Amino acid sequence: MPVSPTILVFDSGLGGLTVLREIVKARPDAHYVYVADDAFFPYGHHSEDALIARVVPLIGELISTHRPDIVVIACNTASTLVLSHLRAAYKVPFVGTVPAIKPACAGSKTRRVSVLGTSGTVQREYTRALIRDFAQGCDVTLVGSADLASLAEAALNGRTVSDSVLSAELAPCFVGNREDAATRTDTVVLACTHYPLLLDRLIRLAPWPVDWIDPAPAIARRVVDLIGPAAGDADQGAEMIFTSGRPHTLNRALMPFFGGRVPA
Ligand code: DGL
Repeated sequence: MPVSPTILVFDSGLGGLTVLREIVKARPDAHYVYVADDAFFPYGHHSEDALIARVVPLIGELISTHRPDIVVIACNTASTLVLSHLRAAYKVPFVGTVPAIKPACAGSKTRRVSVLGTSGTVQREYTRALIRDFAQGCDVTLVGSADLASLAEAALNGRTVSDSVLSAELAPCFVGNREDAATRTDTVVLACTHYPLLLDRLIRLAPWPVDWIDPAPAIARRVVDLIGPAAGDADQGAEMIFTSGRPHTLNRALMPFFGGRVPA
């Protein structure tokens, strides 16, 4: 592994920035290429066949162009479907993002957990298998949202997203009697990387307090396991690429996700 590795972080849009942010903290010395496949956003609206046909060759092109040392698929909707295809097709190591059902169920005291993801992610066999293997007797409610990822992008782009719209998206995650803290849902898995962009508001709008499980810190630890710890904190720069070809106009909003760097 080179002293300053190139880490390619991929998502359908801006949600993967919530994963990038944690990786940058763990490896401030790496060079980053963030790719948003906005030309095909949102992934949650595409069929499984269409997504495989889109993502597998696209990642191949990105590997040829940017020569990353590791690729992070910072998207549950893609990871739950294409990771095995990517690993079969390309030699570079991949780290995926999949619903954090195991830690959520291990930590739930009421044994009632909800998984909030795109409609694609909650339908995946991969997600169902995680529940079969790791629910540990918990009652797991799958909540598929068609629009929350787009709403998160709208909010990050400075557009107004009303509380009532967000509350309606959240409502099905909260199961049980609100007066009975011993049996109601106590844990919500954020199974789409866009959702932590809205976390402050989700916390405020929740009908009662819950643990929100964001897998990003665990993904950053996995990246460090594979490529090793930081060798310094020199800034090796970062690039941000939209597959639509549009320039990014969000510099100020993006900088914190890149650890203060202005992406080229
Ligand atoms: N950020 C993506 C995820 O983690 C999906 C958003 C979408 O494109 O539907 O699932």
